[in-house]
Amino acid sequence: MRHIEPHKARRARLLALMQDGIAVVPTAPERLRSRDSDYPYRFDSYFYYLTGFPEPEAVLVLLAGETPRSILFCREKSLERELWDGYRFGVDAAREAFGFDEAHPISGIDEKLPQLIANRPALFFAPGMDPAWDSRVMGWLNQVRAQARTGVVAPADIRDVRSILDELRLVKDPHEIAAMRRAGTVTAGAHLRAMRATRPGAMEYEIEAELLHEFRRHGSQFPAYWPIVASGPNACVLHYRENDRQMHEGDLLLIDAGCEIDGYAADVTRTFPVSGRFAGPQRDVYEIVLAAQAAAAAEVKPGARWDAPHEAAVRITAQGLVDLGLCSGTTDAVIESGDYKRFYMHRTGHWLGLDVHDAGDYKQAGEWRPLVQGMTLTVEPGCYIRPAENVPERFWNIGVRIEDDALVTETGCELLTAAAPKRVDDIEALMRDAR
Ligand code: GLY
Ligand code: MN
Ligand code: MN
Repeated sequence: MRHIEPHKARRARLLALMQDGIAVVPTAPERLRSRDSDYPYRFDSYFYYLTGFPEPEAVLVLLAGETPRSILFCREKSLERELWDGYRFGVDAAREAFGFDEAHPISGIDEKLPQLIANRPALFFAPGMDPAWDSRVMGWLNQVRAQARTGVVAPADIRDVRSILDELRLVKDPHEIAAMRRAGTVTAGAHLRAMRATRPGAMEYEIEAELLHEFRRHGSQFPAYWPIVASGPNACVLHYRENDRQMHEGDLLLIDAGCEIDGYAADVTRTFPVSGRFAGPQRDVYEIVLAAQAAAAAEVKPGARWDAPHEAAVRITAQGLVDLGLCSGTTDAVIESGDYKRFYMHRTGHWLGLDVHDAGDYKQAGEWRPLVQGMTLTVEPGCYIRPAENVPERFWNIGVRIEDDALVTETGCELLTAAAPKRVDDIEALMRDAR
């Protein structure tokens, strides 16, 4: 069933913040992958947030004021094109099905837009997002300016619509939370399936195939990003993507994979032993990252500063590195000097939503912003130990990350992806049962 009310409500919220301005929000273009063959189409996140409309070649225009109007420009019905490419709504059905006040053929947009822009005090769009789009919008503006002697006034105020939309997108509404919950549940199931399928001798890509199969069979349209299936030394390559190594007894396997459902991403990492049993040093490092993640998640609550989970994770990690002899000195000194960054070099999370690294500022007026109920973020500490002279060999090539997706609730947070096991005993029991 299509829900149009959430999108209408989002348009209304944006319109209320635009005085008498006009906003122009295009969806993403189709992109060629090889001759005559496109990449799978993915809409623009801002456009989809406001419309729910999935087709390419579409532009949303919003006119604010006493009687606000939402106007969609989209492709017309075409039996010829639909024979080749499949169903398209067409102007009338799109207006009806998605709750717009008006809809027009996209082919007429260059004629209509200067008329709509004229005499509006402000124009909201996304400058710099796409040079071709910038020049098109400037062309419309110049057409309006060229009519100045007839008394027509062009917008004096050119604004970035993203600065408003980013703030709106930061706090998820119940419709978005429901989609993220589904993406989280399916993704957790895929990690479970990957743990069950992993065995010495298998190729990383066989596990990638298990993940993708599980995503798709539950209706996910895409992986939210390409899965990282990184065994042995590859676990210490943060953006590893070849997924073509054979896995061996004694390796750890780090899997960072999440699906996208109805536009919303999950982003989950689990690390486990290929053999099903953690070796001693692997377990030592793993327990530190697991404790760091628990400490970070405990800081995800309304009113906490964005940086609080990271600080908590860094403290536990630095302490653990000192305990293992990988860093020397006191925990405070290791934090102060940043020596822990030899092993933990990324931050503990990011906003999550329509984009994997979702929209929204992390600081306000120079300060880390406080968390608010309804925000969604990842909690993902890690520890990556590459071979090095001053590192005992037993720790070489141990790469661990544990990543879950958190929803800020009234009193704390809920991990939407908690169904993927992460306690050592739970992982070992699950893998034993799968043999
Ligand atoms: N999978 C991307 C990230 O963890 O940020
Ligand atoms: Mn990730
Ligand atoms: Mn992430």
